[in-house]
Amino acid sequence: MTILVTGATGNVGRKVVELLLAAGAPVRATSRNPQTAELPAGVDVRAGDLDDPGSFGDALSGVKKLFLFPNPSGVAGFLDLARASGVQHVVLLSSAAVIEPQGTPNPIGLMHLMVEQAVEHSGIARTVLRPGSFASNALQWAPAIRESGEVHVPYAESTVSPIHERDIAAVAVQALLSDGHEGATYELTGPESMTLRRQVELIAAAIGRPVTVVDLAGDAARAQLEEQYGAFGVPGLVDSVLATYAASVGTAAPVTDTVARITGRAPAAFADWAVEHRPAFTAA
Ligand SMILES: NC(=O)c1ccc[n+]([C@@H]2O[C@H](COP(=O)([O-])OP(=O)(O)OC[C@H]3O[C@@H](n4cnc5c(N)ncnc54)[C@H](OP(=O)(O)O)[C@@H]3O)[C@@H](O)[C@H]2O)c1
Repeated sequence: MTILVTGATGNVGRKVVELLLAAGAPVRATSRNPQTAELPAGVDVRAGDLDDPGSFGDALSGVKKLFLFPNPSGVAGFLDLARASGVQHVVLLSSAAVIEPQGTPNPIGLMHLMVEQAVEHSGIARTVLRPGSFASNALQWAPAIRESGEVHVPYAESTVSPIHERDIAAVAVQALLSDGHEGATYELTGPESMTLRRQVELIAAAIGRPVTVVDLAGDAARAQLEEQYGAFGVPGLVDSVLATYAASVGTAAPVTDTVARITGRAPAAFADWAVEHRPAFTAA
């Protein structure tokens, strides 16, 4: 029973591969660039571009279960191939953005909803993971922290419940390897709501160096987000991200107990994630 992991070089997919290997499961992984994927020995690494389902060749052969990265283009064709190859269960990496208030057009939520619907329409049994903000988003601050000890943060008082990518992967692996997860949708968060400013403080504590937070609002926040997201060329994306940040100021981000319920272990604290990722914030 081969398990195929797509997005296997990503923050989450890499951990899914590691945890499946540790559990002794037969793992196949795909990347658009298998020769540079740097996945552990013992993993059968193949080429596959979700934009172009035909590029998977025979990578789906013998696969019964699938961890699916949420790439919207090509997803319906890929799922047709998966079903025809005999895939019986898809565990989809989706996003909590699907359930964010839809008052402002939310392109991230709509994109993930489209992928969720494609999985639903495929007729293959599914488990949907809807994580909130990844702890790894904090890596966006690493160059500034390394180079100047000062980070410019749009809406520094906005709140998230950052989840360690390994906890998302641990839920995915439970869903892939144990019974009873078909049809379930899991909303996943870290253990604690905190402001973006607090995240930077915890990184500063982890590296033992002060880091200054410059809180951006209004046009300055918009300019920074345009720089960050403008290249995606998605209409309304920056407005949606700004609205989400602004709306969360002064409120606690949702916290669920799903990681503990499914894995039997408490999710990692952001402080521990920061210690684990210290080299990213200190190495030259
Ligand atoms: N960041 C957040 O706070 C957040 C919250 C909720 C949900 N999410 C979801 O999680 C995703 C990010 O996951 P991540 O952090 O694990 O990924 P990541 O580190 O951003 O890596 C992207 C992965 O996607 C793969 N990929 C990209 N385009 C592909 C394509 N056309 N065909 C096949 N594979 C493709 C890449 O594989 P190769 O380059 O090896 O082909 C790589 O493994 C987001 O895109 C979003 O959908 C993120």
